[in-house]
Amino acid sequence: MKATAIAHPNIALVKYWGKRNIEYNLPAAGSVSLTLGGLETRTTVSFDGGIDADVVELNDNLVDQGPKYDRVAHFLDLVRNRAGIREHARVVSHNDFPTGAGLASSASGFAALAVAATHAAGLDLSDSELSALARRGSGSAARSIFGGFAEMRAGTREDGQDAYAEPICGADHWDLRCVIAVTAHGEKDISSTEGMTRTHQTSPYYDQWVDSVSLDVEWARAAIEQRDFDELARIAEASCLRMHASAMAAEPGIIYWNGTTVDLIHRVRKARKEGLPVFFTIDAGPQVKVFCPAESQTDCELLLRDTDGVRDVLVTHPGEGARLIEETD
Ligand code: PMV
Repeated sequence: MKATAIAHPNIALVKYWGKRNIEYNLPAAGSVSLTLGGLETRTTVSFDGGIDADVVELNDNLVDQGPKYDRVAHFLDLVRNRAGIREHARVVSHNDFPTGAGLASSASGFAALAVAATHAAGLDLSDSELSALARRGSGSAARSIFGGFAEMRAGTREDGQDAYAEPICGADHWDLRCVIAVTAHGEKDISSTEGMTRTHQTSPYYDQWVDSVSLDVEWARAAIEQRDFDELARIAEASCLRMHASAMAAEPGIIYWNGTTVDLIHRVRKARKEGLPVFFTIDAGPQVKVFCPAESQTDCELLLRDTDGVRDVLVTHPGEGARLIEETD
């Protein structure tokens, strides 16, 4: 069977930074995100008894070895085990946005792969099961199974079956924009897994960071439900800066930002002081994601485009969850 799925990346408003178990990829704390419509991964999977290894094509390039290939093949093993099949798979995946550049392509990538591969394998999983499965590929992918705003639950079980995301409010709940300032092209130097592990092992701030998250999750949920922009701005910027502070305090310190990233932080805060409703968040890379209400999109875009060092600006909006778009025998 052959199946094609679409998924969007998501951006965390309350960050995930740290694992309680590496093998099952279990987060140390919860997180809260918005799924980003306007950026898309489209993935087709077919299991084929006639091939003797998985074949992976990403953005028209064959990936036949190395960590990227291993990550996909390992994920396909999980699907095969669950479905009780042995056939290898052909995976063809396309992103319509830059891959591996801090735009959460692993979130949309593994969410799309989870939906396409399980359908192609004949499995019929619930959204929670799909989310827990997507988590095995990438922690943030668990959240892209859902549209709109989602909360990732850290769970308490050792097997991770209760570590999945749940919807908070759908994409039509709040017409926000997330405007992305691309400040550098190319893949990041320190992967999020490496960054998390080093922070966990060496940062004196790691435990305090993890302890701070559950209250932020609770507050962010309430702010989203009440569409309270100022409160969400407060929580999201604090969560982002605390995550980066914990990483910077590791040894050697992890600095994902460049000069333009820092300029943008100041410019966003200054614009907010002057009356433009905007706030920033930053993941494991130098890009800055700026939230604003839909009616402030043009002003927000201008603010970012007008900043020296910004190479590109992408506008996203609340998007739908991962979904199957085609299935054939
Ligand atoms: O999904 P991962 O393992 O790439 O980790 C994502 C980490 C951050 O993007 C920095 C934060 C988050 O919650 O998405």
